[in-house]
Amino acid sequence: MPEKLFFPQNFLWGTSTSAYQIEGGIDNCDWSEKFPAGEACDHYQRYKQDFNLLQETNQNAYRLSIEWSRVEPEENEFNVEAINHYRDLLQDLKKRKIKVMVTLHHFTSPVWFSDKGGWLNSKSPFYFNRFAEKVAKEYDGLVDFWITINEPLIYTPNSYLRGIWPPFKKGLISFVKAIRNQIIAHKRAFKSLHDINKEIKVGIAKNNQFFRPYRDKNIFDKWSCFWADYLYNEYFLDRIEKELDFIGLNYYFSRLIKFPFKIRKGKSSTSDLGWEIYPEGIYHLLLQLEGYGVPIYITENGLADKDDTERESFIKEHLSWVNRAIEDGAGVKGYFHWSLIDNFEWALGFEPRFGLYKVNYDDFSREARSSASYYSEICKNNYLINKVKKTPL
Ligand code: FCB
Repeated sequence: MPEKLFFPQNFLWGTSTSAYQIEGGIDNCDWSEKFPAGEACDHYQRYKQDFNLLQETNQNAYRLSIEWSRVEPEENEFNVEAINHYRDLLQDLKKRKIKVMVTLHHFTSPVWFSDKGGWLNSKSPFYFNRFAEKVAKEYDGLVDFWITINEPLIYTPNSYLRGIWPPFKKGLISFVKAIRNQIIAHKRAFKSLHDINKEIKVGIAKNNQFFRPYRDKNIFDKWSCFWADYLYNEYFLDRIEKELDFIGLNYYFSRLIKFPFKIRKGKSSTSDLGWEIYPEGIYHLLLQLEGYGVPIYITENGLADKDDTERESFIKEHLSWVNRAIEDGAGVKGYFHWSLIDNFEWALGFEPRFGLYKVNYDDFSREARSSASYYSEICKNNYLINKVKKTPL
């Protein structure tokens, strides 16, 4: 028997994007030279058309990022045109009654910031805060939720430990410094934004991963999972616990861990990128986050699936676990699917297709995938029809 899984009243249903991945024409950030996104999806010009898609699919919320290098292309010089552009865009969303979540740092920084050492510079929290204050003042009343930093534990290991993303720094010391400065930056911006408007809601988008022991009962594998969980999922959040009005969870990964910290392949199916699909993981992570005592939003969850063969069941299964987590006490208030349209997947370029809408890059036209209408029904109904029998935990 199909059953209806209802979500709480006023639940936010949306999608998530970031500026560099969709806008096009960003040539002044630290990614622009080595990983140019060119015209990307030309969203900078076509944002109204894209916001029509939000409405077409009954979404009542949207997460975007503001590109720091557009707003502050030179140190302490703010670009009026860019500021006005984002104001128009935010006003447009407001007119459509779409709740807005804005990320301030989504992996990209202006070249001038990078030239000063980026997040290694002890003044980086000051630079970031100046930008955060500027935009929070400009857009006061137009933004419902602010996210300071996207995925600090994906960004800093790639950019400051392994050196595979801009600004290509390597080493444990630079990694630790960058993390430390992001913690300080978050705290500082949290305070400044609240000084601008007491009612403001500020959080973080945290990529958390569900770690499970490779050998079920093996005590060493369990020990490794415990530490992986503490260091990856909890450490950063524990440092900023008092400066969180909500937590954003980005969920993509579950890992099988073998002692000491070896990642093993599981048996579950994978996305086009080979990322393992493990819906149950979101349940455990949500209940764990409930421990922080603030509302939780799923700020990203999705998969690369060019042919759209897995996306519908991916959404269905993840959302049924979200629903179950809510039933078991997790205060989840919204879900933002990654992503509205195909986009530039960082170092991997345009090949991975994460969109509910396909983008034809030769003429920038958008085309609904069939999963878009599936998601649209959920957004409209605020419930999910679950034909799958719940697997026992
Ligand atoms: C997340 C990023 C997002 C997108 C997805 C696939 O780590 O936050 O920008 O690239 O992965």
